[in-house]
Amino acid sequence: MKLHGKRILICISGGIAAYKINYLIRDFIKKGAEAQVLMTSSAEQFVSKLTLSTLSKNPVYSDFYSDNGTWNNHVELALWADIILMAPCTANTLSKMVHGMCDNLVLATYMSAKCPVFIAPAMDLDMYQHPSTKLNLELAEDFGHHIIPAEDGELASGLSGVGRMAEPETISQIIEDFFNSDKSLTGKTVLITAGPTYEAIDPVRFIGNHSSGKMGFSIAEEAANRGANVILISGPSSELSNHQNIEIFRVTSAKEMFTKVFEYYENADIAIASAAVADYAPKEIAQEKIKKSEDSLTIKLVKNPDILKTMGERKTKQFLVGFALETQNEEENAKGKLQKKNLDMIVLNSLRDEGAGFKGSTNKIKIITESTVTEFPLKSKTEVAKDILTFIEEQILK
Ligand code: C5P
Repeated sequence: MKLHGKRILICISGGIAAYKINYLIRDFIKKGAEAQVLMTSSAEQFVSKLTLSTLSKNPVYSDFYSDNGTWNNHVELALWADIILMAPCTANTLSKMVHGMCDNLVLATYMSAKCPVFIAPAMDLDMYQHPSTKLNLELAEDFGHHIIPAEDGELASGLSGVGRMAEPETISQIIEDFFNSDKSLTGKTVLITAGPTYEAIDPVRFIGNHSSGKMGFSIAEEAANRGANVILISGPSSELSNHQNIEIFRVTSAKEMFTKVFEYYENADIAIASAAVADYAPKEIAQEKIKKSEDSLTIKLVKNPDILKTMGERKTKQFLVGFALETQNEEENAKGKLQKKNLDMIVLNSLRDEGAGFKGSTNKIKIITESTVTEFPLKSKTEVAKDILTFIEEQILK
């Protein structure tokens, strides 16, 4: 049975597509899964609890308390699940999920969960196209959730367009594929640096850069999805992850990043340095806020430790990957770094390419090894992360 023993927590919110969940649950059970259903109070208007509990073979909860006064423990429900499926996910529930609102059992359970989350949105076409929905789906993707896109077709409003929840067979197949996908990095430890570093000038100011940390977090999520044990060491970044395979350490300066990296480097099988580490830091950090007195101010900077170069020097078994963000002579400079830092491969992004580099959600890369240059088209950072890891796996297996 394709989903044998898998625990699927299905959260239904109030949309007409809710009736299709009956078929989906029947399919999950047929494939050997265990199903537990939670629903929002508005979902109760669309589909009966009796039907859902009969099909799922479990009580269905919509409130923190049952009629007999027992507490429906959202933490326990969340920890029980191997995956959570939000389907249908309305614009309202989606928005609450990504903004930390927690005013019902579905949301409290979602927020208590550490397992992968799948979202099958369903709404009318204009709601689906609304900038706020688009932004919320992007945020959900940034959290590492899996979006099952809505489909094109007739809508309950009588209009026709994209907004229908994906068909139960499609959702079921995606989840089956997820569980059966190759966990190609199981047993491997992947060390990743991400984000910028901040180098203090005084208690108030710092020298930093525009790195968002998105690329490193996307690689971490993808490696974790492939079964790796991920150590993610990030400079100041607003990116988040609660993937159960990722251990995150937050640091501020290059020196702190250096120390943390070498606590874990020895045991890493793959190390990926995507952090934009400041090359220099102020020689001295002023104890008090520097006052505005002179017309000019000189701050003496000293070189930071090169974390990646040191990883190269201390390399034993690690497959070592660096990043190069260049503005000119891109390939030549990247190749130089590959050799100087004793890397196995380097990922090059050029600030000259639109959509590539620091801040956005897309990137355009070239992967350079000692003997090859492979160019990739502009893609979302999630897709770029897949390309990078697939490339690394191919190199390791060579
Ligand atoms: O030499 P450059 O800073 O351009 O090299 C970029 C690569 O080196 C990136 O992978 C970055 O994470 C890493 N790096 C580092 N420590 C530094 C500077 C860069 O790990 N101090």
